[in-house]
Amino acid sequence: MTHDTHIRPTSIVVFGGTGDLAKRKLFPAFFNLYIDGRMPEQFQIIALGRQVFDQEAFRDYVHENMLAFSRNPNFLKEQWDEFRKHITFFNAHIDDDQSYQDLHQLISQNDDRWGERGNRLFYLSIAPSFIEQVSNGLKTFALADNVAGDRIIFEKPFGYDKSSAIRLNEMLAKTFHEEQIYRIDHYLGKETVQNILAFRFGNSIFEPLWNNRHIDSVQITVAEQVGVENRGGYYDHSGALRDMIQNHLLQILCMVGMEAPNEFESEQIRDKKADLLKSVRRIKREDINHYTVRAQYAAGEINGQPKKAYRDEPGVDPQSRTETFVAMKFYIDNERWLGVPFYMRTGKSLQQKHSAVVINFKDSTKTKFPANRSSIENNQLTINIQPEMDIRLSFMSKQPGLDMEMTPAEMVFDYFQCASNGPEAYETLLLDALDGDSTLFMRSDQVEEAWDIIESIQEEWEHGDLSPIYTYPAGSWGPEEAEELLKRQGHRWLSSFPPFTKSET
Ligand code: BG6
Repeated sequence: MTHDTHIRPTSIVVFGGTGDLAKRKLFPAFFNLYIDGRMPEQFQIIALGRQVFDQEAFRDYVHENMLAFSRNPNFLKEQWDEFRKHITFFNAHIDDDQSYQDLHQLISQNDDRWGERGNRLFYLSIAPSFIEQVSNGLKTFALADNVAGDRIIFEKPFGYDKSSAIRLNEMLAKTFHEEQIYRIDHYLGKETVQNILAFRFGNSIFEPLWNNRHIDSVQITVAEQVGVENRGGYYDHSGALRDMIQNHLLQILCMVGMEAPNEFESEQIRDKKADLLKSVRRIKREDINHYTVRAQYAAGEINGQPKKAYRDEPGVDPQSRTETFVAMKFYIDNERWLGVPFYMRTGKSLQQKHSAVVINFKDSTKTKFPANRSSIENNQLTINIQPEMDIRLSFMSKQPGLDMEMTPAEMVFDYFQCASNGPEAYETLLLDALDGDSTLFMRSDQVEEAWDIIESIQEEWEHGDLSPIYTYPAGSWGPEEAEELLKRQGHRWLSSFPPFTKSET
């Protein structure tokens, strides 16, 4: 979060170095950090892969991807020519001991060149089924044995449910120290998500209002326009609850709902987040239908282009009952939030990409205005996460003119006025990991609590017969039932005004 200018020499090892995440996110992020002068003075990125590449061919491949995926594709040739020397391709088999021995040797060569034992950052961008094997390999061959300087980044999913997450955490605890383990949730690296804490705790005007005396309800929306594309095989065994709610949306909930830490310090912040997750009221299995709606996209149209139904996507079971949309309501049973509904929704193949948090304040105005009284609207604070990046406070104002007529107005803070091309989430998070700052990474207890919150829903959706799965046409805002969920309490989704579409069971 706040960085030392000096980061010790570091060997960065990417397991899954030829994979999708490495090409789209990790290499561009390292290169952008390099351009910004944020990488350690001495570093080497070792990309592990099963394919065979010669060094120059691999560097060319990274270069092509950089042009295609970096937020900053107009980099200078000289910068790239320097950076490419820091990339080494290493053909490895993660089930072969020899590969770990050779990796050890490769890293030691870096240390010899630097004249000191450098830090080591391992990025495990691999399928969950390989995590144990690679972790054991790192331990057996003493690759990450410096607790203070060696870190391992793990990509989600962290387990498949609560019990597998506990097993995974136990296995990792036997292999590494918790302070070496960096569980990444890339939403926490997004500028607008990080700013929630700055906004809440760095200002004195909002925190006094941030509670059930003044807030009526909170909404968190993460809407995606993309469908499952080529990830059908993975997604069909996951679904929106596991893929998005368990991690990204609950992490945003933590940022919005947590208590203030005494100091802006990693463990204190993580403690407060874990406390918040513990306070989320667990939904009883028999109440699932009252609190949740799940749905799947049917064929439709997005931006004028036909979009096929989820069940017709490659890799998806034609009879699949996996949800691509979830809407739900949570309560937080603590003094601050008692009685305030937190609504969440997320889905794929929706009309627009749109992520936002809306804080809907109570109407506590005492004065009755003479004219146009009915048009008084509650104040709302909207934190637009992406693709719009702004904070909007809506309030009532006098309509200029001779009469006391009220009209809604807005105060807006727009990020793009401050920085047009700010860092991507992975840049922030990789820099934090290089620097040993785990504030924005998830601790084992947070992960387990998050699984615990959704456990009853998972069980009912997978094994019960209480909850229907609705459908919505691709290109809509989801099923009408998601509107009904809020209407029952006199609410409506505020960050968009979807045209309703009839859905079926
Ligand atoms: C990932 C999910 O964690 O987040 C994907 O697995 C989802 O299904 C993605 O599309 C969304 O991330 P972003 O940054 O594009 O909003």
